[in-house]
Amino acid sequence: MKSVLFSRFFILLPWILIVIIMLDVDTRRPAPPLTPRPHFSPYAAAGRGAARVPLPRRVSPGRHAEQRNESRPRAEPEPPLPTIYAITPTYSRPVQKAELTRLANTFRQVARLHWILVEDAAARSELVSRFLARAGLPSTHLHVPTPRRYKRPGLPRATEQRNAGLAWLRQTHQQQRSQPGVLFFADDDNTYSLELFQEMRTTRKVSVWPVGLVGGRRYERPLVENGKVVGWYTGWRADRPFAIDMAGFAVSLQVILSNPKAVFTRRGSQPGMQESDFLKQITTVEELEPKASNCTKVLVWHTRTEKVNLANEPKYLVDTVKIEV
Ligand SMILES: *[C@@H]1O[C@H](CO)[C@@H](O)[C@H](O)[C@H]1NC(C)=O
Ligand SMILES: *[C@@H]1O[C@H](CO)[C@@H](O)[C@H](O)[C@H]1NC(C)=O
Repeated sequence: MKSVLFSRFFILLPWILIVIIMLDVDTRRPAPPLTPRPHFSPYAAAGRGAARVPLPRRVSPGRHAEQRNESRPRAEPEPPLPTIYAITPTYSRPVQKAELTRLANTFRQVARLHWILVEDAAARSELVSRFLARAGLPSTHLHVPTPRRYKRPGLPRATEQRNAGLAWLRQTHQQQRSQPGVLFFADDDNTYSLELFQEMRTTRKVSVWPVGLVGGRRYERPLVENGKVVGWYTGWRADRPFAIDMAGFAVSLQVILSNPKAVFTRRGSQPGMQESDFLKQITTVEELEPKASNCTKVLVWHTRTEKVNLANEPKYLVDTVKIEV
């Protein structure tokens, strides 16, 4: 009995070994590279938060040939994707959270975006703090109150808040000056196409593009000839050196750092001249880089939320719960 078992075992043993070897060889055959080739990935660069919209990848024609060629040096590392800094002045009002939600939903689609939210307030509000904590975006929360004397209709708004954002950027990048970055002013009521972020990310100094629904027209835009800005299509004071809306330009971080005195000013600045007076300090019209197909595409709209009707809102809490809106 024992010898029969032994003989069967020794007959089966080679077969079992052969099967094991075959399985092993079979799983190895496709030999997929265990570590993916290093390539440009907007996902890897993204900060906290959910999925990002992939930017167009650079695919070299020799990519497939290169894939298995171990004797060839790996592709040189891609330069880091410049961070986009969005400075958003904001103030307390019934639609504030709705506007910020819209903006965050856009920004969450953009790789490497850092949101600098500046409240017009003596302290950070709970509403905005809670909102940012849950927004899933790399962000900085600042606050600075507008002096009472400047809170009049006709006077430029958000001057102090934009300057606070600029000051934070300059302070933060004092040490590491070589980090690539692009700054733009993202008012909380505008509407932004995701394409706009791809366009502005390649800003070398100061880039410009059209803005929709602004200046009493369907759009305003820089006029471009041979790839250079030569004038302005605008419904209001075309004689301004830079007849452009706050939503119509981006500035590289390097330009902000190398012009440490450039700020938005109230003194001597006429209403509607904020953008022009700021840009005058850092660039010239000849230097401007036209984006959005030589300024022929509208990728941002100066939308305005209708003033909400709160005529029936009770003066004191009537509901059984207190709800943040
Ligand atoms: C692999 O690299 C070597 C050395 O650079 C080169 O001569 C050869 O043509 C390459 N082969 C392929 C398939 O790219
Ligand atoms: C913009 O205009 C310049 C000069 O006419 C041209 O070379 C360039 O390709 C244009 N760019 C785009 C994106 O259309």
